[in-house]
Amino acid sequence: MPRQFFVGGNFKMNPISRDQKQTIIGVLNSADLDTATEIVVAPPSLYLIPLRDTVRTELQVSAQNCYYKDSGAFTGEISPAQLVDAKIPYVILGHSERRSIFNETSELVAQKTKAALNATLKVILCVGETLQERELGQTAAVVEKQLQAVVNVLQESDWSGVVIAYEPVWAIGTGKVATSAQAQEAHADIRQFLSKAVSPAVSENTRIIYGGSVTAANCKELSTQSDVDGFLVGGASLKPEFVDIINAKRN
Ligand code: PGA
Repeated sequence: MPRQFFVGGNFKMNPISRDQKQTIIGVLNSADLDTATEIVVAPPSLYLIPLRDTVRTELQVSAQNCYYKDSGAFTGEISPAQLVDAKIPYVILGHSERRSIFNETSELVAQKTKAALNATLKVILCVGETLQERELGQTAAVVEKQLQAVVNVLQESDWSGVVIAYEPVWAIGTGKVATSAQAQEAHADIRQFLSKAVSPAVSENTRIIYGGSVTAANCKELSTQSDVDGFLVGGASLKPEFVDIINAKRN
């Protein structure tokens, strides 16, 4: 079975007003979208439910984070059970901004991933190296360490609910996209790692998407790489060009 192309829009802490959110959704709702691609949009949590109610059925909605407990005294957090109850199917976990600004460790990301999957959410699991780590030749080792923490807590069957987003930190929000060769190499390394650490079937079936300064101008070439199964898009997901990125695979 070929892996279904996947494009996610990570709105981050944007937009700042409901009007702007409506404009973005208006563009997506009226666009001609490639229905062969799985499309997910991740707004700030206060827009999750209104967005779920107003986007066309081809678009799924994702949270940008969640905690690992079902409920309780965890001020400011959202639980996997609450997301499931609100009919939100996806959650992004381990984004580099969560890891670096909010000090999330790979072990915490793994714990959250396990809890989200147990609650029947699907997870967009982000990994990636810093510029310094790349320059020191540590890219594969860093990404494997981030993934190993998750491998340690998941069962093989859990992986059907995971999409891995390879997002080099130096490419996020910088305009410095990885070359298609760099992306392909990192994705192939991840696939090889999954084969050894989990199973050949999980390696073959898991989608590995690229994130970091993806635009309408660079998405086509990246999409031709055999191990690039889609994109996680930040800045450009707030603009009309997100439609072209969703349609990257369409001739
Ligand atoms: P960017 O962000 O497309 O703005 O670089 C990607 C991401 O952080 O997911």
